[in-house]
Amino acid sequence: MNRKRTPKLNIRVTPARWVAFRTLQDFRKGQKFIDEILHDYADSSRLSREDRALSHQLVYGVLRNLYRLDFWIDRMSSKGIGSLPESIVDALRLGLFQLAFLDRIPAHAVVDESVRLCDAISMGPIKGLVNAILRRFPGRRDALEADIERDPRQVAIQTSHPDWLIDWANHLFGKDRAEAWLRHNNTPPRLHLAPITSHFPQAPTPSRSEREAKAIRRLLEAIGEGEAKTDGETVTWEGGLPVAELGVIRSGQAYVQDPAARQAVKLLEPKPGETVYDLCSAPGGKTLQIADLLESQGKLVSVDSNVNRLKQVSENLSRCGFDWVETVCRDLTRGWEEANQSADAVLVDAPCTGLGTLRRKVDLRYRLKPSDVEELAKKGLSLLENASRLVRPGGRLVFSTCTLTLEENEETVRRFLSKHSKEWNLVREIKSPAWLFSDTEDDQSEVETDGSYCALLSRAN
Ligand SMILES: C[S@@+](CC[C@H](N)C(=O)[O-])C[C@H]1O[C@@H](n2cnc3c(N)ncnc32)[C@H](O)[C@@H]1O
Repeated sequence: MNRKRTPKLNIRVTPARWVAFRTLQDFRKGQKFIDEILHDYADSSRLSREDRALSHQLVYGVLRNLYRLDFWIDRMSSKGIGSLPESIVDALRLGLFQLAFLDRIPAHAVVDESVRLCDAISMGPIKGLVNAILRRFPGRRDALEADIERDPRQVAIQTSHPDWLIDWANHLFGKDRAEAWLRHNNTPPRLHLAPITSHFPQAPTPSRSEREAKAIRRLLEAIGEGEAKTDGETVTWEGGLPVAELGVIRSGQAYVQDPAARQAVKLLEPKPGETVYDLCSAPGGKTLQIADLLESQGKLVSVDSNVNRLKQVSENLSRCGFDWVETVCRDLTRGWEEANQSADAVLVDAPCTGLGTLRRKVDLRYRLKPSDVEELAKKGLSLLENASRLVRPGGRLVFSTCTLTLEENEETVRRFLSKHSKEWNLVREIKSPAWLFSDTEDDQSEVETDGSYCALLSRAN
């Protein structure tokens, strides 16, 4: 296994903070996703469950508040943030985040630990400055916040989003909704678990809806009804255990999926006996959802170009008892003549900017560039073209993304339809979360979901 080695640490810094610090350092190099970096360091440091949770809270908290923390550091250091070594900036970000947002860690412990961290990274000579900034912070916090209120970049600093994303959101949603969306991106998401229903024998419980209700009840019981809630389709749960350790996940009774991500398969409506292709399928949430609906009758082919991610699909399928599903590694920007017109239903879940998932992917907003939108829209169109060829006459096609840009969503579908107007029809489009797009008052229950787009197209006979 290719595990990252955590550099040896001789001076006492608690393991969770050391892992969080190393993760922030690697994040700056920008080559890997934050959850991968964190996971690798947590594994190689053999963090306990509690320490994993704390390092996760520290890293995600710092990234959700990055611009605000940097504003504070800039104002409190005499020569500005740019004059400080990067590792010291990371140590200060961690320290200030704990002082400002976590009330269960005493201030003196945060300061002492941050000073020890300076020694641990051979930055001892600068520890006096770190000590002074952290000790002064509580007394200066209100004045710093007032400075932010007066700053022309107030919204960017308060919500920690790059200017181009704020401009984009203002333009598309209007100022008030854009601001609600920016703040929503900093609220930790709940966990949604979808039950596997098809494992319940069809007799003596004949209808699918009865079996679904039974599967939900079993999930609620397994998690503990006090902690878990249900919307009738998924179970939401906030509590402590890492997902992979949940018994219902390990035993293949459930998988993690946000309600917004479930829309595409609901729109496709795969039925037992059909031939279905799930394209751009990894890590396989929608493959599991389709497999569950097909109830082992028919054919499901799950396709992705990334061999490592496809392995995750296979693991998920076998964990949930769906070994009958085929997995294929293939670049779908190229044609696939042998499979042409062979499917009743095709889902293409295109790679996208992921703007609907910023709550979960806290590093994404800093990695995206405006040019990504156009590039991914182009790729989405090429995937949609190739996917459409796999659908038989009279069959169905769903194009979906987890982003919110018009270019990657509606405009891609419109471009496709304008080229194929005789053969293809748009049946329905769904955009989530509804509160961001609808004309009615904000619905708080909707605020809980991610953002997504899906369009159902039908092919003429
Ligand atoms: C949004 S993710 C899919 C999520 C997945 N459908 C699910 O529900 O778990 C997009 C996927 O597209 C895959 N992908 C990107 N370019 C591709 C291509 N040219 N051909 C096939 N798959 C591709 C990526 O590897 C990635 O797994």
